[in-house]
Amino acid sequence: MSESKKLFIKTYGCQMNVYDSERMAEALGGQGYVETQSADDADMILLNTCHIREKAAEKVYSELGRFKGLKAEKPDLKIGVAGCVAQAEGEEIMRRQPLVDLVVGPQSYHRLPEMEAKTRTGAKALDTDFPEEDKFEKLKNRPKAKRGPTAFLTVQEGCDKFCAFCVVPYTRGAEVSRPADRIIREAQDLVDRGVREITLLGQNVNAYHGAGPNGDITLASLIWELNKVDGLERIRFTTSHPNDMADDLIEAHGTCDKLMPYLHLPVQSGSDRILKRMNRSHTAESYLRLIERIRAARPDIVMSGDFIVGFPEETEEDFQATMDLVEQVKYGYAYSFKYSTRPGTPAAERAQVDPDAADDRLQRLQALITRHQREIQDSMVGRTVRVLFEKTGRLEGQMVGKSEYLHSVHVKARGIEVGDLREVRITDSGANSLAGELLSFGD
Ligand code: 5AD
Ligand code: SF4
Repeated sequence: MSESKKLFIKTYGCQMNVYDSERMAEALGGQGYVETQSADDADMILLNTCHIREKAAEKVYSELGRFKGLKAEKPDLKIGVAGCVAQAEGEEIMRRQPLVDLVVGPQSYHRLPEMEAKTRTGAKALDTDFPEEDKFEKLKNRPKAKRGPTAFLTVQEGCDKFCAFCVVPYTRGAEVSRPADRIIREAQDLVDRGVREITLLGQNVNAYHGAGPNGDITLASLIWELNKVDGLERIRFTTSHPNDMADDLIEAHGTCDKLMPYLHLPVQSGSDRILKRMNRSHTAESYLRLIERIRAARPDIVMSGDFIVGFPEETEEDFQATMDLVEQVKYGYAYSFKYSTRPGTPAAERAQVDPDAADDRLQRLQALITRHQREIQDSMVGRTVRVLFEKTGRLEGQMVGKSEYLHSVHVKARGIEVGDLREVRITDSGANSLAGELLSFGD
């Protein structure tokens, strides 16, 4: 048997890319690759790219340029580009950067083993198809090795919403849901390998409508099926669209014990005029009513969201409407971005907002979000939460995990293992995390 080759994967962007990188590493594992944390000793470097914001392609080209020296020293080194920039740029990547051997889109990475073999003959390999076959079916035999207590699991991919700023419908393609039985099987396998918390992933995860035993089932039904998996303790899902927040899913937040009280529900703007121009097909009011219903089902739920400021034609008044919405919702977490043009999307053609005004709005929004975030985090002091421990902390004897609400919690105590789920009383709130003391001695 030949000596193992080393694979270095650098992952950008969303959680789905993290999941995809894991699957790509597994696929190449069959070709004798083991992962390395350093590009310097790699036989293959794979950049798993993101195209969602800010000059994504340019960043990838400059990153690739940095591998020139390595490739000169090691002519057998193979360099690949995967993910959404690969999908969007395709062959252009090889034209602009000849040191690239392989370009693979997010829907074709099950073909990586053949593609890698092709590059070993000195040829280039390109695949940005949206193939008929299901990549997950081709990659269904996942390794059995033990792993950490949390995992991502893609249940749905692509998006049919076509928000006017977003490249996802073009790079990830149309909305496709995986069949429920395959997801349950994959979840069971993950649990057998030590996983206790699964985050279900999809660009539009709450639009999930995969094949169930008697026709298509909803995300809520899938969650109820997963709720039955012994050893699985926690279920999360991301990212959702307000219009797909069905009644059964809202209800599940109040009744399904393994579903965690945290919901990422991007609104993007608080101005109806801008929401319309974004093609969001909901209003600020309908979003606020929705949150009321979710909070009625699960009063302690922590909300999270995404915002774009400086969307074309956004006025100060529109921006104020966003600030008002944030005041009303009070997010525990929120991610805000300055609008950046994505060529090929409808908003790219419109009148752009003055960049200084957009910067100023971003700062004001982020200051407000940070204040709320901190208030919500501070309000945890004195409460008892359940923490799933994920790793050792920086201090001696310290362990770090996540509460139900996704806050990081540090605990100094003997006998806590990675993967333990324990009751912790919160004693202190710091800049980005909580500290607490152990209450229970087992789970
Ligand atoms: N400019 C700025 N932010 C964007 N997002 C998506 N496209 C753009 C863009 N062109 C943000 C949205 C989305 C998050 C993942 O990224 O807020 O919810
Ligand atoms: Fe992009 Fe999300 Fe809108 Fe789909 S719903 S187009 S993924 S922002």
